[in-house]
Amino acid sequence: MTKSVLSRRAFLQTSAAAAAAAGATLAANTIRLEAEPAYSAGVYSAPSDRVRFGMVGVGMEGSGVLATAVALPGTECVAAADLYDGRHTLAREIVGKPIKTTRRYQELLDDKSIDAILIAVPDHWHKQVVVDALAAGKDVYCEKPMSHNAADGVAMVAAAKKTDRIVQIGAQRTSSVLCAKTHEMIAKGAIGDLNLIEATMGRNDPTGAWEYPPPPDLSPQNLDWDTWQGTAPKKAFDPLAFARWRCWKEYGTGVAGDLLVHLISGMQVSLGINEVPKKASAFGGILRWKDGRNMPDVHAVLFEYGDLPVYMRLNLGSESAEVTRFYGSKGVIELREFSVTYSPQPGVDTAPSYYTGSYPAAMRAEYTKKWHEEHDPKPGQEPAPESITINGNDYDDLRPHVWNFFEAVRSRKPVVQDAVFGHHAALACHMANESYFRGVPVKWDEGSQTIKSAT
Ligand SMILES: NC(=O)c1ccc[n+]([C@@H]2O[C@H](COP(=O)([O-])OP(=O)(O)OC[C@H]3O[C@@H](n4cnc5c(N)ncnc54)[C@H](O)[C@@H]3O)[C@@H](O)[C@H]2O)c1
Repeated sequence: MTKSVLSRRAFLQTSAAAAAAAGATLAANTIRLEAEPAYSAGVYSAPSDRVRFGMVGVGMEGSGVLATAVALPGTECVAAADLYDGRHTLAREIVGKPIKTTRRYQELLDDKSIDAILIAVPDHWHKQVVVDALAAGKDVYCEKPMSHNAADGVAMVAAAKKTDRIVQIGAQRTSSVLCAKTHEMIAKGAIGDLNLIEATMGRNDPTGAWEYPPPPDLSPQNLDWDTWQGTAPKKAFDPLAFARWRCWKEYGTGVAGDLLVHLISGMQVSLGINEVPKKASAFGGILRWKDGRNMPDVHAVLFEYGDLPVYMRLNLGSESAEVTRFYGSKGVIELREFSVTYSPQPGVDTAPSYYTGSYPAAMRAEYTKKWHEEHDPKPGQEPAPESITINGNDYDDLRPHVWNFFEAVRSRKPVVQDAVFGHHAALACHMANESYFRGVPVKWDEGSQTIKSAT
């Protein structure tokens, strides 16, 4: 996928002319997309292109990333690092052959036979592992959100810019065919002048709210608890913090870094933008899961991207569908996990204005007659606007995104989600958190590279 930086202004300028072309593209009303477009577009061929990689962090997500990576052609996992020994067993089970396992990820970085490092550690460890891996000359795939805070993100971008190594951040819907389709439709002017974006998702169960059961055998004997805490304030061994780290800002980034980052990343790709929001105003609270967490379980955020309002709502206290809607002067695009739906709108009156109900009868009759004369379509030429739904592969599927990374490692071509893209998406999440905690709107200050209150 190309990463055109299509500004809102640019596509507004081209929208009118392109609308007709979009109509031609959207001819049928149900289109089934290829399930795995990245594979068909890929350039994989020779077994000599085999990429040897090491996995750092083999927990809930790392186990999925590892299973995905080893199932792709042309990859080989040779080692895995995790601070909990139970996950060494898990890594060997997934890879299905003996591999080196260790608690110290630095051993993977010292291994010259390893080309790439895949990282799925909690957010508070992202920066250090990424910076160390790049310094060791490895290509890097790092899970979302890229950073734990703005300063970490700044340091990670600087480290990436110092090398020619590939860096892919793991918000997988940036490789989704559905987001690509959304981008294509918006860029061609299908919805005219974009004027509002909203996205929402909700869960209502303990697992959805991160109340995960720690592994029953977890102990300071099989987990390096001291190292796990990283630079966070030290505390006594806490199995709940190990499993439920998302609940606390010392380790995680709350619903913003866990979930909002996917909505933001998908939106960035869909709009073809790669930028920090101008401003964020957030509200919320711990309204459902009063279990000792310090991150909100309800988080409503209003962003300004240029002059475009983007309203995103995350809720762990009530279930609701995950959907992103792009509203424009010529219609709406609704992006969901398995589909994208385009609903056109004429954007003009289709009947005499209801305001004329306030006219005296003779005046109203005259107005209505004239209106119909001027506006009614010719017989046989009545418009019949159609909604179109495109069904495609799950936009949360890891495979196209992990594949995109390995292809970039082989070809040295750009990934879909480099460190700058990941940084911008993560900054939106950090701004959402900062606004919530400070109780005021915030903005990104480019000069000082910090988030400032916008009051
Ligand atoms: N892309 C997605 O859809 C998605 C989904 C879930 C999680 N994630 C991200 O993946 C990352 C991991 O999340 P998770 O749910 O798998 O967490 P987890 O707690 O289940 O697993 C993290 C693992 O990292 C290990 N670890 C921690 N510090 C380490 C270190 N310094 N060296 C080696 N190992 C270390 C832990 O022991 C643990 O096994 C997070 O950044 C999260 O936001 C992404």
